[in-house]
Amino acid sequence: MDSSHYLQQYKAGLEMVPLALRELFNIEYVPCDIYTLKKGLFELILKKESPVDKKLLAQILNNSSGSLYTLRVEHQKIIKKQQELLRIATRSLSMGNTIENTKKQMSFLTLNMYYLYLDALDNETLNLQLQSAQALAKLLVAMMHIHKELYDDYIRQKHHYILAQPVLSSLFLLGLLKNSKTYIDQDVEAFFLASLLKDVGMSFIPTDKFEKNNLTDSDKKQFLRHPQISLKILTGRTPLRPHHLKIIEHHHAFSDLRSELSPELQIRLNPSNNVMLGFETLTTIIMDIIAAMLSDRPYRGACTLLESLEFVKKIMFDQFPTEFKLIVQFFKKYYA
Ligand SMILES: [Fe+2]
Repeated sequence: MDSSHYLQQYKAGLEMVPLALRELFNIEYVPCDIYTLKKGLFELILKKESPVDKKLLAQILNNSSGSLYTLRVEHQKIIKKQQELLRIATRSLSMGNTIENTKKQMSFLTLNMYYLYLDALDNETLNLQLQSAQALAKLLVAMMHIHKELYDDYIRQKHHYILAQPVLSSLFLLGLLKNSKTYIDQDVEAFFLASLLKDVGMSFIPTDKFEKNNLTDSDKKQFLRHPQISLKILTGRTPLRPHHLKIIEHHHAFSDLRSELSPELQIRLNPSNNVMLGFETLTTIIMDIIAAMLSDRPYRGACTLLESLEFVKKIMFDQFPTEFKLIVQFFKKYYA
């Protein structure tokens, strides 16, 4: 290999960004060249304008072990394509097979959340996420009987837990609040949106931390700050009311990371310890914990729903027995 090739590879390394295989789902032609890494060198695996179908995607997965790359400047073209698909899916959500449309919508929405985490300050991506989530919430409120089917389908898709957790916890929260018959649908939808966006502050945490087995104290502090960062990112940019923003701010009041830090540090990091929890905040937190336990982590496997409920019983039953019973009744009714 000559020196100009080395130089070319070095330059490519600086300009490439990783690409998830699912970013190529549902698009007919790739808008840019796609590369994989072979023996430490970038190799073209799919040329710009190549048609894409399921068979080809399976081949790519085999040939690349899932490690795909494209040029940073070209990645925007894929993002635009996927966002256009989400816009179309949102417009036609209640046309035809509503159940299949809803499953797709959850998947598109998850991908757009990834794009939001890549650039949390991009208004277009945030607005698209809000509008699409609002349309999804309306359908979910009207179709409580299909939540289990949606949940099973979503789990099968194996999204990364950082993206799956807010989607699943929001699905549970919406169902629980609707089932409580305490809120009008519009309020249930607004709590769904707040829950879905509560972790956008995670976008400021380096992605390698998400795969770590042993978090340092500094990592833990960084994770615990994400509600405050979410608040900064969202304030003044969404229709969320102050009450919703408060929920986002306090959505880690029971964090298991917090319990490992000194009491002084816990209070300095987040004032949640001194805050009285309202029903909506409490249920947002508990649904988030349940959704977290239902997914794999680098340091543990996924728990069952029953194990998750047993865990939340330990942390809430003494203080909130009525709320705990409501949660159990809800899961028995819709997820058994
Ligand atoms: Fe969170």
